[in-house]
Amino acid sequence: MDLMTPHPLEIVPDGEAEMIERVTALQTEIQKTRDPRKRGQHPKQQALLRGVFEIADSVPKTLRAGVFAEPGAFDALVRVSTGPMPKDSDPNPHAMAIKLVDVPGSQSGTQDFIMLDQPTFFIRDIAEYVKFFDATMADPAAESYFKTRPREFGLNLTFNVVIASHLERQYWSEVPIAMGGGAARLTLIPDVANVSGRDPATSPDGLRDALEEHFVRNRRPARFFFAAQAYVDEATTPIEDATAVWPTPFEIIATLTLPAQDFTAPEQFAVCENLSYTPWHCLPEHQPLGGIQRCRKRVYEASQRLRHGLNGAADREPTKADYDALGQFI
Ligand code: HEM
Repeated sequence: MDLMTPHPLEIVPDGEAEMIERVTALQTEIQKTRDPRKRGQHPKQQALLRGVFEIADSVPKTLRAGVFAEPGAFDALVRVSTGPMPKDSDPNPHAMAIKLVDVPGSQSGTQDFIMLDQPTFFIRDIAEYVKFFDATMADPAAESYFKTRPREFGLNLTFNVVIASHLERQYWSEVPIAMGGGAARLTLIPDVANVSGRDPATSPDGLRDALEEHFVRNRRPARFFFAAQAYVDEATTPIEDATAVWPTPFEIIATLTLPAQDFTAPEQFAVCENLSYTPWHCLPEHQPLGGIQRCRKRVYEASQRLRHGLNGAADREPTKADYDALGQFI
């Protein structure tokens, strides 16, 4: 499989390349007006954590592809982040981005899984994304766009919540990736032992404090179950509609363990700032699928090129040596 060729399960609409250019230009404008040295989305980094991603012994046949083809373990660099609101006490989306390093067969050497704490995206495809972005240029709340789309408005509302800790949230890929000839959407489910008993954040950096309390002060590990739901057909599990809920069951195919660790060194935050996560850092067997994913290729590259240039950062993927150089497990 070649990452530049559409996957057999994709349906690419006419004029998509122009629409992607438009989204890229508008997104770059947004990045420049916020802080061009930081990510165009999810700029606030709460932590860069080291972890181990272990493939389950018995992955169902339809999902046995790429990194899930056989049992094994990968070192993982996990960026924990929040959306555009700088204060953790304000409603925001929350995210975990997982990067497996030293992955044989991946052109970048890495395999990224980028997850948000909502089950689906709030925009179905790129044509809709252009309309949404155009509306936000006139009015940041995009009232003219949402006025005629109550479903999308409802989905967008659920994106913004105040939470107690990233370690007790569930995360979703929202959009599919290939699993060899098939496809899947992904989720990350917290272990019940991650629960902190904290109240939702009331201070600007309450979420970083929740992570420090867990990993550094209480010296506790955290664990997540990584599950996938299989594609059936375009009617049941649409590839090109990112707002559709897939009805297929999630099967656990891996475990992410984050040992107790000290992640608080300023140098570690600097490494995190200059990392590049994209669904396009992947094995050919995990090609990102659907219009939103195809758009992310261009948009993420543009955001990363802009900020790396301004920060004097090298455009290279980390390896096991970079993983080992970070803050130690305690
Ligand atoms: C066309 C739709 C989308 C656009 C235009 C977009 C745009 C962006 C941009 C510009 C970045 C910063 C890239 C960088 O500089 O490293 C980013 C990061 C991110 N996006 Fe998206 N995105 C889209 C869809 C999604 C979807 C569907 C998800 C669902 C999981 C998502 C989750 C994230 C997360 C979690 C990050 C932060 C990754 C990190 O920690 O480095 N995005 N997005």
